[in-house]
Amino acid sequence: MHVKSLLILTTAASLCAVMSAQGQVVQPTPGAPGDYVLPDGSAKKLVQDNCTVCHNLRNIVNSNKSAEDWDNTVNMMMAAGAPVTREQGDQIKAYLIASFPEKPRPKPAAISGTVQVKFREWSLPTPGERPHDPLAMPDGSLWWSGQFANRLGRLDPKTGEMKEYPIPIKGGPHGLINDKDGNIWYAGNWGGHIGELDVKTGEYKFFPMPDPKARDPHTPLFDKNGILWFTSQNSNMVGRLDPKTGGVKLAVVPTEKAAPYGIAGCPHPHPPHGRDLRRHDLVRQLGHRQARPARSQDRRRHRVGRPQRAAVAALRHDRDR
Ligand code: HEC
Repeated sequence: MHVKSLLILTTAASLCAVMSAQGQVVQPTPGAPGDYVLPDGSAKKLVQDNCTVCHNLRNIVNSNKSAEDWDNTVNMMMAAGAPVTREQGDQIKAYLIASFPEKPRPKPAAISGTVQVKFREWSLPTPGERPHDPLAMPDGSLWWSGQFANRLGRLDPKTGEMKEYPIPIKGGPHGLINDKDGNIWYAGNWGGHIGELDVKTGEYKFFPMPDPKARDPHTPLFDKNGILWFTSQNSNMVGRLDPKTGGVKLAVVPTEKAAPYGIAGCPHPHPPHGRDLRRHDLVRQLGHRQARPARSQDRRRHRVGRPQRAAVAALRHDRDR
């Protein structure tokens, strides 16, 4: 059984929901394979041997999923490279479905009022590809990144026609953005690069990071000058790529472990001057116009600020030029 990979925005949220429905977290057992004790069952050893290659068993023992969701999760892990045959994958699915079944969730509270919502769903061609970051294009098409299956895809919602574009090197594409010519740029979260898909030829171009420490690019965004900005979450960096030269510059976020995820541009072409402008070290590291030193109040705010604030600060300054 292949479960539909639904192209909806909730996929990322559901990945984070790995706690048991009851909210009790299973604690690790030192020395146990994969750090956690698994219940007995047919595929226990298969899970211990193959599902601990990239992570320990914490997510597994703390999950309770429907059969459909376990099917999709194991498909995802196989797409990502779990070293099991399809038959072993089926055994693992059956074991996980029996051992970690879905638990009742808290009942929702209904709020009165009329709402008309219509959903349309499309099943994607590759099982377990973990569709990410749908991108609606001006021509009405929808693009997605299939992170676990290392590909981008395009859907024509009018006809339901889909086309996938496998990435020929390790990419793990995460966020997507289109340039003004309609080409698709992605953040290669697993491959440590930015990639560009020429939608006419179907060819990819890759822009490696100048520093291998910037290993997980995230959330690409174009500014009005055509410069591509991105974050590098666990590397704690913000970067910019000039598509004309291919040059990438990186800046380390001053707050340790800030883990910048999103990045946003200032909506105003001419942001207010004076105290509302956050001048920031990042701007200097990225080689922009010399910023005036931050006032002490601003500096303090940056130190305690949430990660996103640092990323926004640099971009806002650039847009102001
Ligand atoms: C090739 C590396 C790799 C292997 C092997 C692997 N996983 Fe994962 N797994 C990942 C990555 C990457 C994530 C996602 C982390 C994130 O949320 O960004 C993940 C997350 C998970 C999660 C939490 C997300 C969810 O969908 O609930 C579960 C559960 C999980 N893996 C189960 C398994 C099982 C079962 C196996 C063995 C069949 C397995 N993994 C083998 C890479 C792997």
